[in-house]
Amino acid sequence: MAEAAAAVRAAHKLYEKSVIFDDPFALQLTSPEWRFVAKNQWLYSLIVKKILKVLRPAHGQVLARSRYTEDRLENAISNGTTQYLLLGAGLDSFVHRRKDLISRLKIFEVDHPETQELKKERIASLELEHPKNLHYLPIDFRTESLSEILERSSLNQKEPVFISWLGTVPYLKRDVFFEIVQSLSGLLASKSELVFDYANITISSDDQPVVEKLMKFAERRGEPLITQFDTKVLNSNLNSLGYNIIENISQAKWRVFYYENSPTADLCPISAAYIAHLRVRNLL
Ligand SMILES: C[S@@+](CC[C@H](N)C(=O)[O-])C[C@H]1O[C@@H](n2cnc3c(N)ncnc32)[C@H](O)[C@@H]1O
Repeated sequence: MAEAAAAVRAAHKLYEKSVIFDDPFALQLTSPEWRFVAKNQWLYSLIVKKILKVLRPAHGQVLARSRYTEDRLENAISNGTTQYLLLGAGLDSFVHRRKDLISRLKIFEVDHPETQELKKERIASLELEHPKNLHYLPIDFRTESLSEILERSSLNQKEPVFISWLGTVPYLKRDVFFEIVQSLSGLLASKSELVFDYANITISSDDQPVVEKLMKFAERRGEPLITQFDTKVLNSNLNSLGYNIIENISQAKWRVFYYENSPTADLCPISAAYIAHLRVRNLL
């Protein structure tokens, strides 16, 4: 699914009039198959805009979650944050795209070993630079402890960290998700921030076709979407695990932020698509 997300970013840059998230590296980083589709406008229109048309709101979520996160990351950097942790980094090209920000950061990409190896191979074959402040940390969230891996890394636990966790939480069991957020709030300095997107448990009948298609799409690729949350319960759980909820927003805000009066209004995510922005408070 990391390759599909990169293909969405690639095609968005190539063909869409209003660019919500500008990723000039996505086309090179995605799989040869998706690159072939994205580069051929006729094939792209047929597959993505006709056959998979119902998935457009899911594509809009891929774009908006990255834009939302990097806007908040920029704020955190101006407030002094110097560490960026990408959980489930996938084919995110942050270190190649954001030359304006990377010199001010220590960056940790945390991902499943298979995805991370694939990314490293692609980066090597494209002869892209490996910044010395980028650290790869392989993990399987289901079987390994994130806090142990972070403790062994050069992450400075005394300084705030900005964490993105995009497009990944729905693939994990609830207990794995809660173990990770709990361990992070115990480990990281207060004022660390976490942004993650997830699906709400309540799905409107209008959104049902998108959800069904997305679930089948993910399942066919061997990466089933298994976890949704009730937002109110989630907020309360996160609060008791040491987080202040800065924002936990859905469609209405996504629309206002990125898709209102836009030629790409059809990309607006469904009402069950949420993104949460939290700040670590630490438990006393
Ligand atoms: C849909 S991709 C999202 C990638 C990227 N964050 C983005 O927004 O394009 C999901 C990511 O979650 C990672 N992932 C899924 N299950 C995982 C697990 N059990 N352990 C570690 N990473 C996992 C995958 O390797 C992949 O990078």
